[in-house]
Amino acid sequence: MYMGHKHHGKSSAKFLDSNEILSELSFKGNETFMDAGCGDGYISIKAIEEFLPEGVVYAVDIHDESMEGLKEYKNENNVENLINVVADITEGIPEVEDSSVDVILMVNVFHGFKSSQNEDVVVEELKRLIRDDGKIAIVDFNPIEIPHGPPVDIKISPERLEELFAKHNLKRIYLNEELGADYPNGKSHYMIMFINE
Ligand SMILES: C[S@@+](CC[C@H](N)C(=O)[O-])C[C@H]1O[C@@H](n2cnc3c(N)ncnc32)[C@H](O)[C@@H]1O
Repeated sequence: MYMGHKHHGKSSAKFLDSNEILSELSFKGNETFMDAGCGDGYISIKAIEEFLPEGVVYAVDIHDESMEGLKEYKNENNVENLINVVADITEGIPEVEDSSVDVILMVNVFHGFKSSQNEDVVVEELKRLIRDDGKIAIVDFNPIEIPHGPPVDIKISPERLEELFAKHNLKRIYLNEELGADYPNGKSHYMIMFINE
């Protein structure tokens, strides 16, 4: 199994199971998928190898160096349908056309936009990218005290995301608050999913 190159120590590979996350997305196998804020890309690679044999995967990150391992993987394995994009989501992803993505996934990224006050521009950009019947899935830390991840006040609750996305006419279709690692006070992560109203 490809383990990826770790940069910035930010990959969630050690505590989140890519299979568990991708299984939630009900892929048919030919979708266009975006791993937004992909880090070392362990989820993008799993998606290409096991979920989207006929699909396209955009692996997007602001840090070019996070994606070194992903680029190496792409070249070594000749995977044409994996597309690396270096972009700042708060500035937009001009490489990717309007209404062209079936599923966008963001894992452990969105809480960072809360502190930078860029939440609304990010939601608008995600909305621009998805097809009319596309979906946006956010996986982030449940707002409880656990030994890893950001402090509780930086974490963002699913309720808060629901309010935020509703302002952009995106409605919640799914919430699973039981993802990731087990702690006495709950699971480490949730997934919430949105579609156009
Ligand atoms: C905690 S890491 C999670 C990486 C990956 N999703 C995972 O779960 O392993 C957050 C990632 O989001 C990326 N990121 C943060 N802000 C971003 C932005 N404005 N545009 C694109 N990527 C961003 C960071 O470079 C980092 O790779």
